[in-house]
Amino acid sequence: MQITPFATEQFYARYEFTTPYQLCNSDCETVSVETLLEMAGMSLDDLGKLGLGYTESQGNPALREAIAEAYATAQPDDVVVLGTPIEGIYLGARAILSPGDEVIALTPAYDALINMFEHVVGEGGVRRWGFTATPTGWVLDLDRLRGLITTRTKLLVVNFPHNPTGYLPSVAQLEAIVGLAEAHGLWLFCDEMYHGLVHSGTPPIPSSADLSGHVVVLSGLSKTYGLPGLRTGWLVVQDAALRESILNWKFYTSICPPAPSEFLAQAAWKVRDALRERSIKQIEHNLRLAEDFFARWPELFVWRRPMAGSTALVGMNVPSVTAYAERLASEAGVLIHPATTLGYDDRHMRMGFGRAGFGEALAQFEAYLDKNQ
Ligand SMILES: Cc1ncc(COP(=O)(O)O)c(C=O)c1O
Repeated sequence: MQITPFATEQFYARYEFTTPYQLCNSDCETVSVETLLEMAGMSLDDLGKLGLGYTESQGNPALREAIAEAYATAQPDDVVVLGTPIEGIYLGARAILSPGDEVIALTPAYDALINMFEHVVGEGGVRRWGFTATPTGWVLDLDRLRGLITTRTKLLVVNFPHNPTGYLPSVAQLEAIVGLAEAHGLWLFCDEMYHGLVHSGTPPIPSSADLSGHVVVLSGLSKTYGLPGLRTGWLVVQDAALRESILNWKFYTSICPPAPSEFLAQAAWKVRDALRERSIKQIEHNLRLAEDFFARWPELFVWRRPMAGSTALVGMNVPSVTAYAERLASEAGVLIHPATTLGYDDRHMRMGFGRAGFGEALAQFEAYLDKNQ
């Protein structure tokens, strides 16, 4: 059985390790194993002594307990540690949906959040709840969401902070979304991979796991904490029957999390505040550089400052961002990400502000613009 190509990951598989200057990554600057252990007051010897046997399928109990402490209502038993964060999207889709169900998904989106669900329910089964663009930002229209719900709708898929727009709803908006899902008996799948990555004076919001028991939350260490190579993610699922189904699906995909990742995830979780603050500092620094850059090129870009997360969706006054990005990568070694892979038009690119090399990459982009205007 075929599935829609995963365009975003195909794009990064092609360019991420061959293009020297990158302006579009959604993760934040990482640290070495040595630095992480040092931050957590642990030694490399501790890691060296770790056994490499199978681990507990739902996740290491101490890690699940530590993760649960970060939520107001979740218990350690509600936490399912994954083999990789992306696995959580697959497991959620499989466990919640059957062919013929309908799904509503917030768009644009990291494409797995549409394609994976569409794969299970069938073509045309995912209705798009699109952001509205204003000249300076993005707006969520709850009336439009209400209008998309039918008697067949089973699941609402959202992602906050949002990749790629950098949108974060207010607490009242999040409560309204959760309330709407509850009132219509929908499951809510809330991708919170960027949770806690709040900047620009935006007020933080709670996890939706703390607002309703009818929610599946996906979170992990890749983005906010800068540790995508650990491949550590988890689901928070307070509904016992759904959790059992998810665990059953997981036996077919990863069985149990990798032992070294769980070990290092425990170290990371001890120092999560420091890792998150480091990421936010980098993003705020890069956003200042980006704003100055966009002010110098007002004819070429439409800049809508993100409220949270590590990315922004930026308008580009060119006929095709896809064609432009290919030229830019081959002629200047600079990577920008066409928004078409995220289900948006070819007049926008995603930018990412979490990496330390952003400033140098932006200078390379500007040198290219100076030469080619
Ligand atoms: C919204 C969102 N969800 C899930 C993932 C998957 O995370 P990972 O690549 O760590 O598996 C990503 C990665 O870009 C993402 O942006």
